[in-house]
Amino acid sequence: MSERPRPLPLIGTPRHGARDAMTCQYRCGNACDHPVPNTSANPYFGDLVEAEVSRRGVVRAGAVGALVLGFGGTVAGALAGAGPAAAAPATPAAPVAPAAAPGGGVGSGALTFKPIPPNKLDTLIVPNGYDHAVVIKWGDPVVPGAPAFDLHGQTAAAQAKQFGFNNDFVGVLPIDRKRALLVVNHEYTNEDLMFPGFTGQDALSVEQLRVAMAAHGMSVVELERVDGTGRWRPVGHGRRPYNRRVTALATTFELTGPAAGSAWLRTAADPKGRTVVGTLNNCAGGVTPWGTVLSGEENFNQYFVGGDGAPEELKPKLARYGIPTDARYPSGSRKWDRADERFDLAKHPNEAHRFGWVVEIDPFDPDGKPRKHTALGRFKHEGANVIVAENGHVVAYMGDDERFDYLYKFVSDKKFMPGNSWVARKHNLTLLESGTLYAAVLTGNSAGEIDGTGQLPSDGAFDGRGRWIRLVSGNRSYVDGMTAADVLTFTRLAADKVGATKMDRPEDVEPSQLTGKVYVALTNNTDRGKAGKAPADEANPRNLNKHGQILELVEDRGDNTSETFAWSLPIVCGDPADPSTHFAGYDKAKVSPISCPDNVAFDATGNLWIATDGNALGSNDGLFATAIEGPERGHLKQFLTVPVGAETCGPFITRDNRSVFVAVQHPGEITGASVENPASTWPDGDFAKPGVVVTWRLDGGPVGS
Ligand code: FEO
Ligand code: CA
Ligand code: CA
Repeated sequence: MSERPRPLPLIGTPRHGARDAMTCQYRCGNACDHPVPNTSANPYFGDLVEAEVSRRGVVRAGAVGALVLGFGGTVAGALAGAGPAAAAPATPAAPVAPAAAPGGGVGSGALTFKPIPPNKLDTLIVPNGYDHAVVIKWGDPVVPGAPAFDLHGQTAAAQAKQFGFNNDFVGVLPIDRKRALLVVNHEYTNEDLMFPGFTGQDALSVEQLRVAMAAHGMSVVELERVDGTGRWRPVGHGRRPYNRRVTALATTFELTGPAAGSAWLRTAADPKGRTVVGTLNNCAGGVTPWGTVLSGEENFNQYFVGGDGAPEELKPKLARYGIPTDARYPSGSRKWDRADERFDLAKHPNEAHRFGWVVEIDPFDPDGKPRKHTALGRFKHEGANVIVAENGHVVAYMGDDERFDYLYKFVSDKKFMPGNSWVARKHNLTLLESGTLYAAVLTGNSAGEIDGTGQLPSDGAFDGRGRWIRLVSGNRSYVDGMTAADVLTFTRLAADKVGATKMDRPEDVEPSQLTGKVYVALTNNTDRGKAGKAPADEANPRNLNKHGQILELVEDRGDNTSETFAWSLPIVCGDPADPSTHFAGYDKAKVSPISCPDNVAFDATGNLWIATDGNALGSNDGLFATAIEGPERGHLKQFLTVPVGAETCGPFITRDNRSVFVAVQHPGEITGASVENPASTWPDGDFAKPGVVVTWRLDGGPVGS
């Protein structure tokens, strides 16, 4: 845990909350500099007071009992570094049946690790008793035969075989006990930190633009377990038939669902509107119960130019998706039109509609075409996470990551077919092609008491009821004046019309596979309550919200296909000393400070793990864990921090509970940094490289315990 010297005085001037200006430019195209795209006049939450029915839905039978935790707490003063970690309780509790792991079962679920303190170190920090290793990083070979990384001789052809830039989502799909497939998103590129001698986007060669396109997308990498530990590494020899790169440059995708083939999706290169080259800004995602990976196309707007030259009737639709229509080049534009004119909306106005979808890739079918599922709607998809409802239909939960945008869910028409047979697999691959898409309306039961300060109302909870409003079902639209293809292609406009609830940047939305309850990371919204903007409401209870909150959604009757639900905020983030923060009533002296929750995951015993993006408390970003059932609910503890300038992405805990994976995204992304003058030297001591890390317990035990 020694601090490496930092060669660069950190001169970044945060403009947008705690995010560095460089991250704002490259990651989301300076979204915060642009007006909030949602200018709809949806009713505010406070106007919709509804009688409370029942605060808690029925919990899935049999699931929660196994999660009762007997841990009494060990971390008084832990942030100051005091107190030994308790021994891991020996009681086995396996509410699901993950693959057997070396050293026994998945553990009791008690989170006994000693939390790490907030810090600004340029290294990755894990708790005592744990180790970590870089699994793979930018430029490492993925496809067999990939050339060695050559910083000064980068080519698109080489990058298309190597690990891409800015890893985000991480999924690990077991092949057997010793081998697995790592599936990773590469959300975006930062050319300042990729190309030596970078002086500006305009000075990049066309080949460098194509390198950047090839560094976007996804990677599939075969891993092997190291000597029966929780450590994993890439298989470095042999055929590795699944290893694959998906890129923005050259991978062909098939469009599925009701909007495929519609006029909105047709272009000169694809007159039938059924195939798209490339995927853009793949942020988070999810592993499906049938063994595929979903990936969300998020801030796709930033890749397009020429919005000012688009047809007039299209401009309001482009603007609702954050594409400026008053200038040829938006601020910070990547100007990819120099390499491929389809990114020029003045020439190809429909091309932007072919991004912003949920992508499904079958990593076990390396020659298969990934698909973009129009039935799940088009918005700035953070990701999508699926659960099989008790009636067999599959439900995908999704967030639209923009200030004042919405929560969504999709319910499949068809039912999940269990088993690994060829017939079941073929069937399940069609589940996301047809179904019903909903947007959420949330109402509070204490709406009159919400004053924007974060003070709890008199009933002691930010909580209430919610409804899922149907937008479209198959080819049937429920939105006046919009066809099914309209609703699916311009889902934001459809949700505006039905009065969906404006949320504080809904990022990851993930159901617990043990309880069916759903957890939503609402990152922040510093525009909440500003003049002309929606004020605080019970689900978004703080004006100028810098630190975000976690929302728990419990579907009525424990049925994930239900159209009504209860909700509450178990965690309202920030410094525990700040009276506007809440940790499910847990003793705040014992919880770790947390800011800007982004991605969430569950371990095999059902604990909630939360990764952060843009810590506004002065620490590096990190990974946290808390119980969500029983007396330890709200006892949030920090497990890990990432190096300077980085964001913690893609947390993934393997089903045997032996390995925690995180993606270290944009290390050293601080204004003024470059390859030659890096703000971080992680992971190799020279210049900063994004990479995926695995953490494991030195004694081979279950992580967290
Ligand atoms: Fe790519 Fe919503 O973070
Ligand atoms: Ca309340
Ligand atoms: Ca994210």
